[in-house]
Amino acid sequence: MAIRISGIGTALPDKIVTNDDLSEVMDTSDEWIRARAGIGARHVDGVTSEMAIEAGANALKAADLGPDDIDLLILCTTTPDQRFPATSAVVQSGLGLTCGAFDVNAVCAGFTYGYVSAYGMMNAPTGPDRVLLIGSDAMSTITDWTDRGTAILFGDGAAAVVMEKHEQGEMLAFDLGADGNLQPILYCDHDGFIQMEGREVFKKAVRAVAQSVENVLAKAGLTPDDVDVVLPHQANIRIIEAVCQRIGIPMSKTHNVLETTGNTSGASIPLAMAKAEADGALEPGTIVLMSGFGAGMAWGSAVLRW
Ligand code: UT7
Repeated sequence: MAIRISGIGTALPDKIVTNDDLSEVMDTSDEWIRARAGIGARHVDGVTSEMAIEAGANALKAADLGPDDIDLLILCTTTPDQRFPATSAVVQSGLGLTCGAFDVNAVCAGFTYGYVSAYGMMNAPTGPDRVLLIGSDAMSTITDWTDRGTAILFGDGAAAVVMEKHEQGEMLAFDLGADGNLQPILYCDHDGFIQMEGREVFKKAVRAVAQSVENVLAKAGLTPDDVDVVLPHQANIRIIEAVCQRIGIPMSKTHNVLETTGNTSGASIPLAMAKAEADGALEPGTIVLMSGFGAGMAWGSAVLRW
């Protein structure tokens, strides 16, 4: 059965913190952050449910659908509004949906885990015909704004896609992985801030993503040359460059937003997807590779024919 993405919507909070703003309150500089991470600014003061509702409404509009058309809502987030209920319930109500709803927490790999979960459920007997899949994270709420090792990297945002059964569009393969032994290098306790060993995460991420991309392309029977569009997790431009170099895909095939958003965790890949769409890069038949990684560590790649 074919499943296509028929609408994409985004939401970013109004408040922007630039690198220069950060350099006024900590020992850093615009030059350093751009050179070491490729980030120029990030949006802050977002609320996960509010951004998700805005992005979801925009995706429904883009797909020309209403709340009654959606059979399932999946929200990928690591910054839920409350411990419970799941923030997806708040988003379900805010969008006027009546379908089932649940959260996925695979941190920065969340959107890929959510996409694969939605795809699998749509293929199950009596599965949903249309799924609203949203990535939304308010990373500014768990960022220590005195820690230059993390404050420079993260930001808030949301992006949503409508997935629906159709005669065209399909997932060709996926590869999901996790290594819980690496929990100590990137975590956030309840009521705490992001704790990260940046250099270690960087090295592990490059290796894990390159391997995952190799796996997913092999499963799909494709070579790097077959890939038209790459939607990488937006964490650090140097990680994206290193992975592209390892797997032999030119950077020109990647679509990136991190210069203006920083790392928005679960929202990062769908924000990059929205950028690719705006760039006119997503045509029927386009081979799209998305790959995310983050705390867990958890990672996931999927390759789809648009
Ligand atoms: O979704 C997953 C989330 N996490 C990630 O993807 C993060 C992965 N890691 C990274 O992106 C990078 O490790 C960072 C951007 C966090 C750091 O870049 P780096 O090239 O690994 O820098 P480093 O930690 O090795 O530090 C190099 C130097 C050090 O100074 P010395 O010891 O060489 O004198 C740091 O003290 O840069 C210094 N430094 C900074 N200087 C200015 C570290 N952070 C900063 C800063 N501004 N913000």
